[in-house]
Amino acid sequence: MIVRDAVKEDLAKIAALEKIIFDENNFPMSLRNLRYHFKKGNKIYVAKIDNHLAGYAVIFLRKDYARIYSIATNPDFNGKGIGNLLMKHIIAQHSDKKYISLEVRSDNTRAIKLYEKFGFKVVKILPEYYDDGCSGYKMKKIFT
Ligand SMILES: CC(C)(COP(=O)(O)OP(=O)(O)OC[C@H]1O[C@@H](n2cnc3c(N)ncnc32)[C@H](O)[C@@H]1OP(=O)(O)O)[C@@H](O)C(=O)NCCC(=O)NCCS
Repeated sequence: MIVRDAVKEDLAKIAALEKIIFDENNFPMSLRNLRYHFKKGNKIYVAKIDNHLAGYAVIFLRKDYARIYSIATNPDFNGKGIGNLLMKHIIAQHSDKKYISLEVRSDNTRAIKLYEKFGFKVVKILPEYYDDGCSGYKMKKIFT
């Protein structure tokens, strides 16, 4: 199991997984969108098991903070520690920033548990943040 920076050839597989994992209410990233962020220098990490794409994360970089825009485990590999591995990698790579932020659906217990485990705290409730009316949480892990 390894985590590394994505290369251009990984993007189509990530876009395919985004489509499977996130429905239209949850803003899946298109291949075009992924290519744009890849070119712009935002970070995309992939977790690989043998040659399979087991998970990925898309991180937007700002001056003071990093924002986890998308993180997911390939459904074939759920519950096998991929989320843990990606979070550890993200935190190690971006602990030079003031904080890492993210938004999550308030009904996404699995993801919230993962984020809490790594020290993220809810800093804001975002009413009707998602297209189906579900509220969101803005969460942050603050370094210092
Ligand atoms: C959230 C997600 C990334 C977790 O990835 P994963 O590879 O299954 O997670 P791991 O096996 O590494 O488990 C990491 C932690 O997640 C939490 N978790 C994982 N599965 C869980 C479950 N079924 N119920 C509750 N918490 C769970 C636990 O805190 C777990 O820690 P533990 O191993 O100490 O119990 C994965 O479920 C996923 O891709 N979900 C769909 C996409 C998504 O919702 N992304 C987040 C959008 S904001």
